Amino acid sequence: MSSPLRLVFLPCLLLFVVLAALFRSSQADVGTAAQYRPPYLPTSCYGSDASQFPSSNLFGSAGEGIWDNGAACGRQYLVRCISAAVPKTCIPGKTIQIKIVDRALSSVSRPSRNDATMVLSTTAFAAIANSSASFVNVEFQQV
Ligand SMILES: *[C@@H]1O[C@H](CO)[C@@H](O)[C@H](O)[C@H]1NC(C)=O
Repeated sequence: MSSPLRLVFLPCLLLFVVLAALFRSSQADVGTAAQYRPPYLPTSCYGSDASQFPSSNLFGSAGEGIWDNGAACGRQYLVRCISAAVPKTCIPGKTIQIKIVDRALSSVSRPSRNDATMVLSTTAFAAIANSSASFVNVEFQQV
């Protein structure tokens, strides 16, 4: 490799490595979040064990896309509302951390929308959006 080429190549490589690291650390997905109401028990993850629910009541059930054959149980996600059908439905700048405790497909209480990426407890949903919405678009990232 000639010297001028190397002068260009090395900074480009460095830039690529830095950008790749940045991208990896801020990797978030976009999907939909519906909501569901009590009763939340029993769950596909923990049966009738209510002690698995976080005391904050910030929890949810996994849609088929993230259910991961049950591996989703206990996973924590940061969730942020990004848009909805009705303007101003999202609570701006609000991110919550939820725990997956159930599978949306088989939850006792039916979700407000069947094909959602995740279904949030009424407390969790109301923390990021106007609770009269049946679903919102969210950005989410596993913790
Ligand atoms: C929530 O949405 C409903 C229906 O769109 C609306 O009537 C209500 O004013 C909204 N509440 C808040 C706090 O924005």
